[in-house]
Amino acid sequence: MASVPRVLIVDQDPEARYGARQLVEQAGFQASGEAGLGTEAVAQASELKPDVVLFGLKEPMARAIQTVEAIVHDLPGTPIITYAESSDLQTVRLAMLAGARDFLQAPLKADELRRSLTAALESEERRKLRSDDAAVLGPRGSVITVFGAKGGAGKTTVATSLAVALATRSDQSVVLVDADDSFGDAATSLGLGPGPSVTDALREPGPIDSVASQRFLTRHESGVAVMQGPVSPFEWRDISGERLKEALAELSRQFDVVLVDTGSTLSEVSLATLQAASLVLWVTTPDYASAHDSVRALQVLSTVPIDDERIRLVLNVNTPELDVSPASVETALGRQIFWTVPYDRQVRRSAQIGRTVVEADPNGVAATSFWDLATVLSGGSPAPRKRSILGRLLNGRKRAVGASRQEVRA
Ligand SMILES: Nc1ncnc2c1ncn2[C@@H]1O[C@H](COP(=O)(O)OP(=O)(O)O)[C@@H](O)[C@H]1O
Ligand SMILES: [Mg+2]
Repeated sequence: MASVPRVLIVDQDPEARYGARQLVEQAGFQASGEAGLGTEAVAQASELKPDVVLFGLKEPMARAIQTVEAIVHDLPGTPIITYAESSDLQTVRLAMLAGARDFLQAPLKADELRRSLTAALESEERRKLRSDDAAVLGPRGSVITVFGAKGGAGKTTVATSLAVALATRSDQSVVLVDADDSFGDAATSLGLGPGPSVTDALREPGPIDSVASQRFLTRHESGVAVMQGPVSPFEWRDISGERLKEALAELSRQFDVVLVDTGSTLSEVSLATLQAASLVLWVTTPDYASAHDSVRALQVLSTVPIDDERIRLVLNVNTPELDVSPASVETALGRQIFWTVPYDRQVRRSAQIGRTVVEADPNGVAATSFWDLATVLSGGSPAPRKRSILGRLLNGRKRAVGASRQEVRA
């Protein structure tokens, strides 16, 4: 898997390339090559296969635009971000028609560049997820396990918010299984009173299909069926991983989406949920301890049969201060961030009153991120919100640009 995303810088002016290189690195990306226009750029792009191309547009514009087109033709999956001194409509339009993903006004600013690069990579990642994993996240029967190697990272927040978002805005049936084998608190986070537990269901003798019986489910007002965690972690003692896997498979036959909240240890229970998953949302936070625990857990996991391709990194910014940059988290974990949930104080506030942030503050930044994640996981494109300079100039013709730009506070 890619570590720090690699950027190819194309500009006919060597001095401008040098400046761009500094900014790319400042933004936390790797400047992996430089080229002038024409065949030099096209050859470098094919050879390096960068994750993004950063492209300076200068007169003569026709040549620059031809080069953009040639790169798009050879590497259709590689986003190109253009920049130019002039932001007149004609330049922007030409760049977009040639296939550029974004347009930035020069001189570049590190912050703006980082946002644009991150957004381009994220939308490419989502596009890939949609096309590659169509079967995994098909209309029926996905098991999505929310795991994270550190307590407090935000697993329950992600699992409950996503469950409610999916049940509310898609027509999918959703069951949330609390498989945190320490002290599961998914039901409390959803404001549900005590109810039958997942360990009751797993202990039920007889055919496995009874696991999905209404008797073991508590209904949340959003429509999510909740299989609550047991009152005491000891209830998990005699439950085998195999039994849990069978139960999750059975639930996935009866519900469109099975969301699984987990604990933070690689116990037999957690391992079973990871093995049963068609998708693992691996929650980490931007601090050293969390990144470190994730690295160790991923190392351990590489020794058991779990399809690594199913694991997607979710960066949950659970504090207003970033300890480490998103790029360092990616470097440490050797994989790209699939989704970022921004810091939002409403998350904690709503949890305290037993509601998810998507219910309590549906238009806030964290909720928006969960609505979008739900949309993406059910195969759609998130609604464009903040319109980029390009979007404004092109009057919405290229909606992909700047759509759902996710921002991490730096
Ligand atoms: N993006 C966020 N912004 C602000 N607070 C958050 C965010 N994500 C999680 N929290 C808070 O962090 C705490 C731990 O989250 P929780 O989901 O219970 O973690 P876990 O299930 O991984 O132990 C909770 O109080 C929650 O409200
Ligand atoms: Mg939890």
